[in-house]
Amino acid sequence: MSKKIYLCQNCGYETYKWLGRCPACESWNSFVEEKVLGKKRESFSEDILPVGISKLKTNETNRFSTGFFEVDRVLGGGVVKGSLILLGGDPGIGKSTLLLQLAGKIGQTQKVLYVSGEESPVQIKLRAERLNIFEGIDLITQTNVMEIEEVAVKGEYDFIIIDSIQTMYLPELGAAPGTVTQVRESTGRFMRLCKEKNKTILLIGHVTKDGYLAGPRVMEHMVDVVLYLEGERHNTFRLLRSVKNRFGSTNELGIFEMAGEGLIEVTNPSEFFLSLDRHRDCTGSAVIVSLEGSRPFLVEVQALVAPTGFGTPRRVATGFDYNRFVLLLAVLEKKLGFRLSVHDAYLNVVGGLKLAEPAADLGVILAVVSSLREEPLPNEGIFLGEIGLTGEIRPVAGLEKRLREAERLGFKKVFLPKQDISFKTGLEIITLENLKEVIYKLFSV
Ligand code: TYD
Ligand code: MG
Repeated sequence: MSKKIYLCQNCGYETYKWLGRCPACESWNSFVEEKVLGKKRESFSEDILPVGISKLKTNETNRFSTGFFEVDRVLGGGVVKGSLILLGGDPGIGKSTLLLQLAGKIGQTQKVLYVSGEESPVQIKLRAERLNIFEGIDLITQTNVMEIEEVAVKGEYDFIIIDSIQTMYLPELGAAPGTVTQVRESTGRFMRLCKEKNKTILLIGHVTKDGYLAGPRVMEHMVDVVLYLEGERHNTFRLLRSVKNRFGSTNELGIFEMAGEGLIEVTNPSEFFLSLDRHRDCTGSAVIVSLEGSRPFLVEVQALVAPTGFGTPRRVATGFDYNRFVLLLAVLEKKLGFRLSVHDAYLNVVGGLKLAEPAADLGVILAVVSSLREEPLPNEGIFLGEIGLTGEIRPVAGLEKRLREAERLGFKKVFLPKQDISFKTGLEIITLENLKEVIYKLFSV
């Protein structure tokens, strides 16, 4: 039995009537009529009776390495066998490249199937050759989920890559590939394949803005792990983040660089982000240590402040939250009397990184003042601290890791709010009470 319903292609909201605007996600003209199959009761052959938790067996050896340390780290120490993983990201960011590289490594020990709904086997082979992969992967171009299931089971594949979930379809649904129903039902089938046959499946999902391709959002609650590959297309570095992980923490980060021979792991991110030609003694530049998960890395923040030619001064922040930037400028103006309302202010985080942590506040403020006053900050100094609305500087978490990294990269001094330091460091620590004090210490005001 089937019935007709309308589904929002953006968020999956269901109605029985067409609507112009989705009440859930507020996108316009996003409803498409789709046929939904009446749910049949599926009979599972085994494992349907409840089991006492103490009787269940687990073993950590269920995890295996992907051969990429950065990927293992994000997954919480390797892939859990039998899990369903979704990798999302903008088109062209490197999803297929990354998974092909993983397939190459995993193919040395397991049976790997790469299913593409977008490229022919020859195209994939050409790419694989560029990535120095010559064997260990079976390729197939197929978009019918039932056929893929059959191939996967018959061929006894352990590790299957689906590129991409938006091209997959179940014929009985009738809807076009990429619609919410297709994406959801196909994901459901792959989920069963994973759990019942103990296969590991990686799905690639495109994230698009135009509403007609269902984004991976509708499947996020179905899969075990959701990873995102991020980065700017014009920049070579890529970040791998997990936003959901049933088997590990979600605050770890993997860093890669896109090169001619695919994605290369960046194990020393500080050098990567900082070495990009840092000019010494220039104004408007401050170095901070950012902490992503358990990884510290040094980042340069640059500011440019110039008298405005507009009625309302311009504020631009790249790689930093715009509202936070405006707030920090307001603190500077109100608490320290800098006339920023007659200046344009631009902020840039070098390397295309996005800073999301409060400990970067002090560095941002000092870069702004440095540019405004045309006075450079001490070259070998690091600046850390969250700024409050009253101009106070608040303590920073994970200090030991941050300072160790700064020391490793040859920095000599660190400017910090007052906080307990229970570890040894070779850095000279300059503690700060409030913003006024920092400004007097560092500039000839
Ligand atoms: P791709 O993996 O096809 O992206 P996605 O699957 O996310 O859409 O990668 C596309 C880009 O990566 C392409 O524009 C070129 C670049 N690239 C390299 O720079 N080096 C390489 O070795 C490869 C294979 C791709
Ligand atoms: Mg691709």
